Amino acid sequence: METTPRKHRSWAEPYKIKMVEPIRTTTKAERLAAIEEAGYNTFLLRSKDVYIDLLTDSGTSAMSDHQWAGMMMGDEAYSGSENYFNLERNVQKYYGYPFVVPTHQGRGAEHLISRILIRPGDVVPGNMYFTTTRLHQELSGGTFVDVIIDEAHDPTSLHPFKGNVDLAKFQRVIDEHGAKKIPYITVGATVNMAGGQPISMANMRDVYEMAHKHGIRVILDATRAVENAWFIKVREGGYRDASVASILHEMCSYSDGATMSGKKDLLVNIGGFLAIRDQDVFDEARSMVVVYEGMHTYGGLAGRDMEAMARGIVEAVQDEHIHARIGQVEYLGELLRQENIPIVEPIGGHAIYLDAKRFFPHIPQDQFPAQMLAAQLYIENGIRSMERGIVSAGRNAETGENYYPKLELVRLTIPRRVYTQAHLDVVAETVVDLYEHRENIPGLQMVYEPKYLRFFQARFAPLS
Ligand code: F0G
Repeated sequence: METTPRKHRSWAEPYKIKMVEPIRTTTKAERLAAIEEAGYNTFLLRSKDVYIDLLTDSGTSAMSDHQWAGMMMGDEAYSGSENYFNLERNVQKYYGYPFVVPTHQGRGAEHLISRILIRPGDVVPGNMYFTTTRLHQELSGGTFVDVIIDEAHDPTSLHPFKGNVDLAKFQRVIDEHGAKKIPYITVGATVNMAGGQPISMANMRDVYEMAHKHGIRVILDATRAVENAWFIKVREGGYRDASVASILHEMCSYSDGATMSGKKDLLVNIGGFLAIRDQDVFDEARSMVVVYEGMHTYGGLAGRDMEAMARGIVEAVQDEHIHARIGQVEYLGELLRQENIPIVEPIGGHAIYLDAKRFFPHIPQDQFPAQMLAAQLYIENGIRSMERGIVSAGRNAETGENYYPKLELVRLTIPRRVYTQAHLDVVAETVVDLYEHRENIPGLQMVYEPKYLRFFQARFAPLS
């Protein structure tokens, strides 16, 4: 018998829970001691002291029973592992690149492509920097130039594709430096530092055409490209009825290669790859990977890790999976929006970003408002988040001056398939409680600064 469907029906996660991992609540006194010990840096906390861990979505996903079964099928041969061929086959099928070099994680692939294509004095445009990507470009003698649209730097702009490249900015870089000095443009999809914001298919197509007209390659940072594909499906005309898998494949067709951190979209705890169309670049990458990662058929990974990633590729592009994944992020974002908490909008793919400049308007940027906000969320209720502001931006490699990014954010990152809506309710309540007594919270001073990627290990002390 046919039943009349209700007007609105809630979606639910397309899985049930088979194994659980206990988490621990702590007292405020314990948390204060822990954050002092960690130098007010959430990266330096011990995970046993964290209640709900939203530090990152990187390597923190729950694998499926099918992936775990694949772990038992690890072919741990030094070379020619069957799992490598499974990985290669799925990268070819779903991402469309003919050549694949596995790496231990995303930055391993960034290292290879930067070393192979960048010469000292080169310029590498991109739609906003990512920390490790830019550092590898700099270590190879290149200079990163931001060519993302202005809206990306404005947390209140509602542009549906804040990850888009500004073609006029890209053209200016070409005019100023000459195409010969530009080995490639990095296209991030989604753009992590802008708030997990997507790039449109139309823009990817335009960037590819423009780059190729000048003989410039396009290298996709495909780390969260599946999430980007979902946004194209729901926000860009003409893709409503297309599968996420077909959208992903078309996105990749507008690039010459991709770096990949499998620790995000691909639902694994470790792994990545470099994928490329060009046989010459592949030959060099295959030769170089032996020096830094391992043989080209394992690239720093065990056979079982490659198998889990090969299977993760198929799970990642299932429309039901990605709908629920982004649905969880939107759920948390909606709770905060209803309470007028300042967040980056539109809501992005992997995280909710709190706008620390509006959360703590009384703390100047050089007193690290986002760093303090992340520390306070931990003190308040054991919620671990991450600073994505002036600390993450670091210093200009030539002048040593601090960068002052427009975006001073705290990222509440949702691991895939790990937390329930009840956890997200607790997170939202914690943020709202903190917002209500935010006036008296002081800024921080940095008391230790490491040489590279300082946000991982820097230490701070409260100012008063
Ligand atoms: N590209 C993007 C867009 C990333 O977000 C990351 C990592 C990488 C490259 C590097 O990959 O960590 O596997 O070496 N992002 C993590 C994060 C660390 O928390 O956002 P990796």
